[in-house]
Amino acid sequence: MTIALSSQKPFAQGGNRLCFIDPADADRCIKVRRPDFTLEDCRRKKGFPKNLKPLSSFDDSLEEFHVMQGFERHYPESIFDHVSRCFGFVDTDMGRGLSSELIRDSDGRISITLKQYVWERGYTPDCQAAVDVLCKHWLAHCVPSRDILVHNVVVQRDVSEAGENIRRLVVIDGLGSSNLIPLRWQPRALQQKKTQRKIDNFHQRIDTLIQTRSRDSFPGTHGLLFHDGLSQNEAVPSSTNMKDPDAS
Ligand SMILES: Nc1ncnc2c1ncn2[C@@H]1O[C@H](COP(=O)(O)OP(=O)(O)O)[C@@H](O)[C@H]1O
Ligand SMILES: [Mg+2]
Repeated sequence: MTIALSSQKPFAQGGNRLCFIDPADADRCIKVRRPDFTLEDCRRKKGFPKNLKPLSSFDDSLEEFHVMQGFERHYPESIFDHVSRCFGFVDTDMGRGLSSELIRDSDGRISITLKQYVWERGYTPDCQAAVDVLCKHWLAHCVPSRDILVHNVVVQRDVSEAGENIRRLVVIDGLGSSNLIPLRWQPRALQQKKTQRKIDNFHQRIDTLIQTRSRDSFPGTHGLLFHDGLSQNEAVPSSTNMKDPDAS
């Protein structure tokens, strides 16, 4: 069955993909290739010699799917405490889509990114504690990942009349190492050293975000929700159709 997405508003986009709520399951999202930035565009942008590689090697969703299968097979279940789950591919009217666990706050709103959270509220003690938990988790599991980008981490909150607090941070993109030899095959001490480097880099990225916060405009469009999944009446910003140079 082909799932109709083209008539829906995406709730967010990254450098490569548009994200939609699964029309059949409100707890899942479907990520499809951005029609304005195809795999061919992506390959062209890389230049020589990377543009000699097959198209499939530029397919983020395919890579993410393989990485997630690896997590399920070779890592403890608890790795998913801070990583969104992946359910495989589905057919959509916008091409093949990857189905993933949609992270929502306790009030049903789609969780915002760490980038948006820090931008709007600052690096609160609650947020610092959540970052600390995420980093400890990364190190304990030696989770193979690319650099952890602030727009690839979402902040899941428990919201009540008394206020709100952060339940957990969830990494939704940028998983798997770019290394030819899988991280888990490498000596544990080396895995930990590499993971620590990712954590240090993550802290630096948060610092940079805090510094740029004094400016009045949000840096780039990635990491900002188009709608929250509850009130779907907002217009889709024109940026949906823009080519955006932000990293994914
Ligand atoms: N599982 C998810 N739960 C909640 N929000 C998500 C989820 N996956 C993606 N998003 C939102 O969509 C944006 C783009 O998704 P992402 O997977 O990073 O796309 P890309 O591969 O193009 O970078 C993210 O920055 C985030 O705001
Ligand atoms: Mg991304």
